[in-house]
Amino acid sequence: MGPVTASAPGKCILFGEHAVVYGQPAVAVAIEQRISVKIETLASGSETWKIDGMEFDPMRHPHVQALRNRLWQPSQGAPNLSIQITGDIPPASGLGSSAALSVAASAALRTARGRWFNQKEGQQTNHWSEGYSSYFDTDEVYSTIEKEFDSFRKGDDGNAVRYAIGENTVDVDECALLGHAVEAAAQGGRASPMDASTCAHGGIILLSDQVETDEQFLYSRRLTTPEGERLWHLHSIELPPTTEQVFLVIGNTGVYAPTAQQVAKVAAILHANPARKKEIETIGVIARRGIQSLKDGDYPAVGRAMTENQIMLQGLGVSCPELENLIRAAAPTSLGAKLTGAGGGGCMVALTTNPKATSEAIELAGGRTLISTFGNGGLTIEEAENLPLWATERDVGAQ
Ligand code: PMV
Repeated sequence: MGPVTASAPGKCILFGEHAVVYGQPAVAVAIEQRISVKIETLASGSETWKIDGMEFDPMRHPHVQALRNRLWQPSQGAPNLSIQITGDIPPASGLGSSAALSVAASAALRTARGRWFNQKEGQQTNHWSEGYSSYFDTDEVYSTIEKEFDSFRKGDDGNAVRYAIGENTVDVDECALLGHAVEAAAQGGRASPMDASTCAHGGIILLSDQVETDEQFLYSRRLTTPEGERLWHLHSIELPPTTEQVFLVIGNTGVYAPTAQQVAKVAAILHANPARKKEIETIGVIARRGIQSLKDGDYPAVGRAMTENQIMLQGLGVSCPELENLIRAAAPTSLGAKLTGAGGGGCMVALTTNPKATSEAIELAGGRTLISTFGNGGLTIEEAENLPLWATERDVGAQ
């Protein structure tokens, strides 16, 4: 049965990578490039899930495996699924492909599965009967255990009064929470909610260690990492209407550099010389100035802040010759440019009013480019047919 298809955008970081690990603000924007996840049930004789026509390998797709454990447990009678993943976000390049996949897959599974609510139709719909937390024990199905230090949505399973299926059962907050949880599960327990929340909500997301009174507050997230408890406050930023058309041109170096290595590098620098924490604080000051310029619609100032942010990242040793080559190539036609994400390779981003010229310059210097506008839409259900794909006797009885 099915299909159900959901999609979510990738992201790029405009300000604050690395410094955000130490509590400074960071800003990510949803890009035009997206990942789509299409699910259908397989015939009842099938033994495993299929991904893109191949047998599902949990080691290759840890995010899908973690979501299966939470939303679609075979031990509860869930049928095997065929999943097709398509899209134009390059994998493992710091553009949020895995978070977009997780967010879209969680929305497709929820649409196909439906849920029980604690209220009758017409009443507030965000009272689910099952709870969720960002606690990432992969054996967990519905995390109703209240863990003091984990993001938590309370459920009241004993008070389930209405079963519903389809698009209206999707809650963007749940998809962002699950996206964060499965990112953490796949990354050894370390993940900020920046990617999952930007891919789920779209637009522009600000992450901070404090609630920013001038911004639209979304929620806070807690996660117990191997290094201790982390707390983030997430906000969304609205841009003023503008006549000026600005674009992001993302240049991919093609150099693979795992995020964890780059984060460890900065940690080692600060450990060896604690006075360099000042540089992290300076990135925070630059990020705050960049955020204000964004809100003022002053794009030349946004570009200058991006370039200053790059100089600080260079000083911290997370840039590389390939990134600097692309940033230099973009400079004459752009308002500002910097690496985006963890650095050491991966991607750079330029802010420009002339995306064609900037893209050509980056390509000539050896980078592969993507062009995007600002603040694109978040999670979307593209199609939902022949629902539910899986329902228990209790669910069917309620319909
Ligand atoms: O490379 P990405 O897009 O996963 O970004 C990493 C951002 C860092 O600030 C370097 C790490 C983090 O957890 O925020």
